[in-house]
Amino acid sequence: MAKVVACLNLKGGVGKTAIAVNFAAYCGRSGQKTLLVDLDPQTNATFSCISVDEWEEHASKNGTVADLFGARTHTSAEGKQRDLSTIIRKNVWEGMDLIPSNVELFTIDLELAGATARETKLRKALAPVMGDYDMIVCDCPPNLTIPTQNALAVCTHYVVPISPDFLSALGVGLLLGQVNKFCDDMTVSPTLAGMILSRIGRPALHRSRTANSLRQQFGPDVFDAEIHERVAVSEAVEKNLSIYAFDGNGSAAQEFAAMSQELIGRIS
Ligand SMILES: Nc1ncnc2c1ncn2[C@@H]1O[C@H](COP(=O)(O)OP(=O)(O)O)[C@@H](O)[C@H]1O
Ligand SMILES: [Mg+2]
Repeated sequence: MAKVVACLNLKGGVGKTAIAVNFAAYCGRSGQKTLLVDLDPQTNATFSCISVDEWEEHASKNGTVADLFGARTHTSAEGKQRDLSTIIRKNVWEGMDLIPSNVELFTIDLELAGATARETKLRKALAPVMGDYDMIVCDCPPNLTIPTQNALAVCTHYVVPISPDFLSALGVGLLLGQVNKFCDDMTVSPTLAGMILSRIGRPALHRSRTANSLRQQFGPDVFDAEIHERVAVSEAVEKNLSIYAFDGNGSAAQEFAAMSQELIGRIS
């Protein structure tokens, strides 16, 4: 059965998508059959892997993650719900398949208001392929709405990228409290694989203080591996390449590889 890792934080811009995408890419390249699931209506993980044109064609012909949520508007021309096997875009990168997202997910909370089992739509949809993958990686939006709740209901583990600034650090406690409450209500028990210090900028004193206080507060829950702010990360996105394909053995690729190895170690 696949390990399922959700990448989440209430805050945007902390590197969730960069970490989810490049962790999935690392797993795929190292021989694990991997599926990346883009659960953010901003569709950033999707556009990190495929072009807007490729996405448009796939979304209209094959469907997206929005179909898996079963909202009534997401049907094929014949009005039928689309099938998971057509929604999954195969071999987007080496060893890695993708379920693309869709901006329509922005309104999924409204569309599914009152729907039964709306927090477990993804778990149900992915059940038939859980045995086909070694690793499934869910990239979540910066909130705890229905898509993130679905990720929590299906994942075995979750990681929290944090950028070491004061407000991000403050938000971690809030996030963990909310996640625990949801998991308790849903009687699911994913394991916190850890927090990843991400997008670390120039070594300002204030930043290293915040990083140190997070390490003191959360101890071994904070990854040893750290991700620094490096221009190669956004350049790779523009070219639809993983950091390893774009940066070879550069510093950014090495950092994402070290983070991925540590994450694999923490969840196995
Ligand atoms: N380590 C990094 N170095 C430089 N730019 C980064 C890094 N991580 C992410 N970015 C860029 O910063 C922006 C926000 O990152 P992203 O991963 O999308 O954050 P989130 O998913 O938390 O909103 C994106 O443009 C992304 O390409
Ligand atoms: Mg994102």
